Amino acid sequence: MNGNQQAADLLISHHAEMVSSLRERAQALVAAAERGVALTADKRAFLAYVHEILVPHALAEEKTLYPAAAQRPQLSALVHSMITEHRRILSLFETIQHSDDSVFVAAYATALFVLFEVHATKENEEILPPLRDDPTCNLAQLVEAMHRAIPQHTAVETQAESQITKEEIG
Ligand SMILES: [Fe+2]
Ligand SMILES: [Fe+2]
Repeated sequence: MNGNQQAADLLISHHAEMVSSLRERAQALVAAAERGVALTADKRAFLAYVHEILVPHALAEEKTLYPAAAQRPQLSALVHSMITEHRRILSLFETIQHSDDSVFVAAYATALFVLFEVHATKENEEILPPLRDDPTCNLAQLVEAMHRAIPQHTAVETQAESQITKEEIG
């Protein structure tokens, strides 16, 4: 397996992990809203995940992967629309942050999750393959640069996860 293939697989599996973590947290909000119980811990867990994991990932893409993809005429319009989706995810995040209504929060968290799921699928199926298959593109280097663009990536991810675990237990 070559470096580009490995780098693409790594990013695709990271997307799968994020989609599943976000789905779990959105479903917890829907379940809490259905039961009519307070959302505090579940809402914090959802927002912490978006803030600590999704947003840094999106910003890192905009500094590394997206500019490389946008250089290709056939991808530049798509990259532009992907950046618009990042902004929409961020505005849904802010909307959730400022609401205390459990049904509203659950509905908007589900919208954010679905938008991210579709977004990640487009990255996997439309952005990554042309970069992976281009021998003049060093996708491994781009993915490495993406990781470097996320300050203390692992530390932040671990911190957010342990915070969420504490809240789920507490
Ligand atoms: Fe993205
Ligand atoms: Fe991504």
